[in-house]
Amino acid sequence: MSNSTATLIRNGRVITATDDYVADVLLQDGIVHTISQAIEAGPDVRVVDATGLYVLPGGVDTHVHLENVIGPTITADTFASGTKAAAFGGTTTVVDFALQTETDSPLGAIARAQASAQSQVAVDYSLHVIVTRVDDQVLKDVRYAMHHEGVSSFKMFMAYPGVMMADDASIFRMLRQVGADGGMVALHAENGTVIDLLIKEALEAGHTSPRYHALTRPSLMEGEATHRGIRLAELANAPIYFVHVSSNDALKHIVTARAEGIPVFAETCPHYLLFDDSVYDNDDFETAKYVMTPPLRKPEDQKHLWRALRYDDLQVIATDHCPFCMKADHFGMRSAKLRGAHDFSKIPNGAPGIETRLVSLFDIGVMQGKLSLNRFVELTATTPAKLFGLFPQKGTIAVGSDADVVLFNPAVTQTIHAKHLHSHCDYTLLEGRQLQGRVEKVFLRGQLIVDGEHWHGRAGMGRFVKRGQVRAF
Ligand code: URP
Ligand code: ZN
Ligand code: ZN
Repeated sequence: MSNSTATLIRNGRVITATDDYVADVLLQDGIVHTISQAIEAGPDVRVVDATGLYVLPGGVDTHVHLENVIGPTITADTFASGTKAAAFGGTTTVVDFALQTETDSPLGAIARAQASAQSQVAVDYSLHVIVTRVDDQVLKDVRYAMHHEGVSSFKMFMAYPGVMMADDASIFRMLRQVGADGGMVALHAENGTVIDLLIKEALEAGHTSPRYHALTRPSLMEGEATHRGIRLAELANAPIYFVHVSSNDALKHIVTARAEGIPVFAETCPHYLLFDDSVYDNDDFETAKYVMTPPLRKPEDQKHLWRALRYDDLQVIATDHCPFCMKADHFGMRSAKLRGAHDFSKIPNGAPGIETRLVSLFDIGVMQGKLSLNRFVELTATTPAKLFGLFPQKGTIAVGSDADVVLFNPAVTQTIHAKHLHSHCDYTLLEGRQLQGRVEKVFLRGQLIVDGEHWHGRAGMGRFVKRGQVRAF
């Protein structure tokens, strides 16, 4: 039977952001064709019995770094390995980053990333452009990207001076134009210059081990930058999206702004919910696994994150999958945490997580009663699709939507090991952890790409999805 055959998913429990019911779902011609009771299977239709399984919309992960060049480093996953790992984890759409360099324009950045991604991607994808420099020509190109290239979101950094940091006026100019055009600016909010000073002082005092990464990036400086970003967005009359919110010092400004009616949106990431800053209580180099930005915070912060997820002050859980191996890999030392063996500031920032997002959140969120099933879907598929102009093509199960479907078994447990995952990264933060739930089957536009441990996808079958205006509701 060919992989493009129509598929009838029988008797599964269909879960969307709003609904929860048992039905048959017919996937045909790449879309969800029919949802009904007791659909008759035609002669060439593959029938899959989903009794006892959840039928979920394919996950939408709007924060991943595949093949991203960051300063002298490059993330360890290629578009091929990263999207395959995404698929095994139940994610069928990723939004990666296209970095505008010193000399080129946002359009050049998009073309470069697409040229590399096209033959490699195994799930559908889009790009946020990282805008590092703003002038009149850049703003024209940003407008062109929105209206002609289907790229409606742009990331800017308040951190990493000299590498990616943009000044406040540049951020304000982008917010004003992109907001007026119906797009979204996503902000990395940390006070980069103060953090750089703290790093310099720590190194001068002889503090070189990984734990100082966390000690030099205090949550107050995440909070300060978040507050500043909100005020810039308010002045620009534009929506704003904060990536990787880790602390209550940042969250409290978001909560206040939303209560005031300012269109502020934000994500957190699984690692901020799974781990806390006690992992930094040593000088071991192994701790480099947890060197990500922002760093892990206190258990108290986690309580606030959960509350915000539940009551919609945080709307998205994305991975910030930014994999670097502990040791040199196929990209050599460019992808290795070991670069910073004698200087924590040289440890590439980031951690893997693209394959474990759904199962880890199902376990610690749904199973522990912190998230309803509907909210789980909303946070991992529906709202990211809405906020970034992908909905209703992506992010839900509805007649006419892309047939991106995950069959999820809530009744089994699995133990996570890096060697069983599909990322090029040589570790997972979840090594040895037992989690409830498993992705059983994944369909991308109706094609079966994951069947248990078996891979039926192929590099290059993913498509670039042109995105529309954001739904900042
Ligand atoms: O540690 C992280 N998150 N590295 C990736 C770059 C970023 O700030 O998202
Ligand atoms: Zn960031
Ligand atoms: Zn990131």
